[in-house]
Amino acid sequence: MSLRDEDLRAAHRASAAPAGPCPESETLVRAAEGRLAEVFGQWGFMSGQDVASVEGLLDARRREARLFAVALVFALLFLAACWQTARLIRERARTRQTEEALRQSQERYMQAQKLESIGRLAGGVAHDFNNLLTVINGYSDLVFHDLPEQSPLRQQIDQVRKAGARAADLTHQLLTFGRKQVGRPVVVNLNSLVRDAEKMLGRLMGEDIQLITELDPSLGLVMVDPGHIHQVLMNLAVNARDAMPQGGALVIETANTELDRREVVQLTFRDTGAGMDESTLKNIFEPFFTTKGPNKGTGLGLATVYGIVQQSQGRIDVASQPGKGTTFRIFLPRVEGEAAEVPAVSSARRTQGSETILVVEDQEEVREFLVKALTERGYRVLQASDGPKALELSRGHTAAIHVLLTDVILPGMNGRELADQFRTAHPTVRVLYTSGYTQDVIADRGVLHRDVAYISKPYTADEIAAKVREAIDRV
Ligand SMILES: Nc1ncnc2c1ncn2[C@@H]1O[C@H](COP(=O)(O)OP(=O)(O)OP(=O)(O)O)[C@@H](O)[C@H]1O
Ligand SMILES: [Mg+2]
Repeated sequence: MSLRDEDLRAAHRASAAPAGPCPESETLVRAAEGRLAEVFGQWGFMSGQDVASVEGLLDARRREARLFAVALVFALLFLAACWQTARLIRERARTRQTEEALRQSQERYMQAQKLESIGRLAGGVAHDFNNLLTVINGYSDLVFHDLPEQSPLRQQIDQVRKAGARAADLTHQLLTFGRKQVGRPVVVNLNSLVRDAEKMLGRLMGEDIQLITELDPSLGLVMVDPGHIHQVLMNLAVNARDAMPQGGALVIETANTELDRREVVQLTFRDTGAGMDESTLKNIFEPFFTTKGPNKGTGLGLATVYGIVQQSQGRIDVASQPGKGTTFRIFLPRVEGEAAEVPAVSSARRTQGSETILVVEDQEEVREFLVKALTERGYRVLQASDGPKALELSRGHTAAIHVLLTDVILPGMNGRELADQFRTAHPTVRVLYTSGYTQDVIADRGVLHRDVAYISKPYTADEIAAKVREAIDRV
């Protein structure tokens, strides 16, 4: 049965009638699509029902397509919002990280500035003290040895000697903190220094503390004064022991790593002790800061470590929390070269001799003490209070002068200039410098020039005599 034109149009109109407020364009589209079915109907290919269902089908498809488009737009918007949010979070985290790094480096800078000025003050005070201590310790030592064994004065002067030695130790630490203590850096492997000290550190820890060493066999070399590093190991170990009265473990670790794009060697001290709170942590490197109570700690241990690390162009940092132990990390610049043999300190030192020594020292009391100490040990001693007088004296002295023992800082002409001029007349003379603290006249930023013989004040009669002997015997 074929459909009449009117029926078709009516059907088409009915299907094309807007269900609600429908825009005109939509009606046009629908009309265009409906046309196809209409034509098919006219040619008798389709029944009126078929035409209507085709139109219905087209309607459903359109709705589906529209729904899909809307969903797609929403999905894209959602993805864009997610991406933007993630970017913002990332950026904020990066800003926070940069701010934190900046804050930390500012804090480190301020701390370094503060310690630098305290160091300068401490170094200056210690310098003057060393001249005084040379006299106090030197003479009390001489008197002690001169007194007969049974003399009741011996015990009293021994107390003065002990107090003097303690004061010398304090000024030594202060000078180290202020980087005014000369060093004799050599190329070494830190592992061998740790191994050398291991036995002694083990004894220091006692039975309740386990000492574990984890040393990297491929560790790079560093340029340090072995004596200074020994002191660092000792001071850190004593602190760790004090933080673990009930026992625990101390791990000493070495490793190669990078710091600020520099190759460095890392020395780590990790203990399972009491740890520290924020306010303690802020002050630990300051000289005389201690939480150990009177007569238990002087607060110079970490200040000394700090000075030594600075002098070695290194860095030290610390992480700690109350009850969670403490980790100190020291970074030292890695160097190329071959590890030097670290000579063992010989305890049997000769102090006697009969050679001629010229003592040049502007501090009268110190000079007199030197003359007395060396004369008593058999040496022939000449003396002068400054460089020009020493040169004049040497011109009138035809016999050999074996050692020129001179203070580094003298009025008019410094010890180095004196030595240079002196050598032209006495080329074989051995020069031994002495000073209250390191001077760049004979050292380069605290590092002694090679082959320079040096003894820091204060010293006892035996110490200076042994050093003179060493200078003469050196080949
Ligand atoms: N490993 C550690 N665990 C917990 N606290 C520590 C540790 N090392 C240092 N401290 C804290 O830092 C302070 C300063 O240490 P530092 O070595 O400078 O001085 P000290 O040990 O008190 O005295 P000194 O070393 O002169 O005998 C200590 O008093 C202690 O409070
Ligand atoms: Mg200490």
